[in-house]
Amino acid sequence: MPLVISKQLLLDAQKGGYAVGAFNVENMEMVQAVIAAAEEMRSPVIMQTTPSTVKYASTDFFYANVRVAAEQASVPVVMHLDHGSSFELAMTAYRSGYTSIMIDGSHGTFEENVEVSKKVADACHPGNVPVEAELGKVGGKEDDLEGGDDNPYTDPEQAVEFVKRTGVDSLAVAIGTAHGIYKGEPRLDLDRLSEIRKVVEIPLVLHGTSGVPDETVSECVRRGICKVNYATDLRIAFTKGVKKVFADTPDVIDPKKYNAAGREEVKQYVMQKMQVVGSVGRA
Ligand code: 13P
Repeated sequence: MPLVISKQLLLDAQKGGYAVGAFNVENMEMVQAVIAAAEEMRSPVIMQTTPSTVKYASTDFFYANVRVAAEQASVPVVMHLDHGSSFELAMTAYRSGYTSIMIDGSHGTFEENVEVSKKVADACHPGNVPVEAELGKVGGKEDDLEGGDDNPYTDPEQAVEFVKRTGVDSLAVAIGTAHGIYKGEPRLDLDRLSEIRKVVEIPLVLHGTSGVPDETVSECVRRGICKVNYATDLRIAFTKGVKKVFADTPDVIDPKKYNAAGREEVKQYVMQKMQVVGSVGRA
């Protein structure tokens, strides 16, 4: 089916008490892996690309890959810009045809974040494209940017004001997760998440989920998370598959051979995470 926008998917998830997995794709094989997993699990799915990914190829290239995958599939698929780092990049993705856009103004002050998030929401909404923003700072290394070391968590009352003033459609919250590989077990402020859920009506998004134990992710979903982002673990899975082929057959020269192995690892990983977030059978 044609690509869908994220808004109804996330509202359905919010109502149904589950979340939709959002998986970062970085090449054609990862797109194929995610779509194959979604078809097998009968799950709605979001594919997303970061600024460094679209710098490597372009929003047009990734959009074309995901659009074709969606059109050949029977489950709903969203194409999302992850961590849009500027108004200009958000507009580039919008013009390419992305059906969901994140503007991440969380590195600036609260007022700067409000300003850029509202500007993107105002520009995208006439074209019926929903917008995700972030309040608070998710820690770790996020794409090419270092997250905040101080890692300030999202304040529930500030979140209410932020949503009201920007008109965004979903909100990424900082409750203790970090992008990249965790050094120890992540400790999440689940009570804060419940507090935010109580006062903020729009769907909430969890970033930095690779390495968070599955039971903790499920608990976040129970407490109101509707979109769960996975990136680092997909890289690890893909690379694991490729490395195994090189270890077993060092003379291999056909990229299709080792890329297919990476693709299969990513597919298995994504299917398992769809069970964790509860989206299986929701397509
Ligand atoms: P991880 O790399 O920790 O999975 O984070 C993904 C993410 O939040 C992308 O925005």
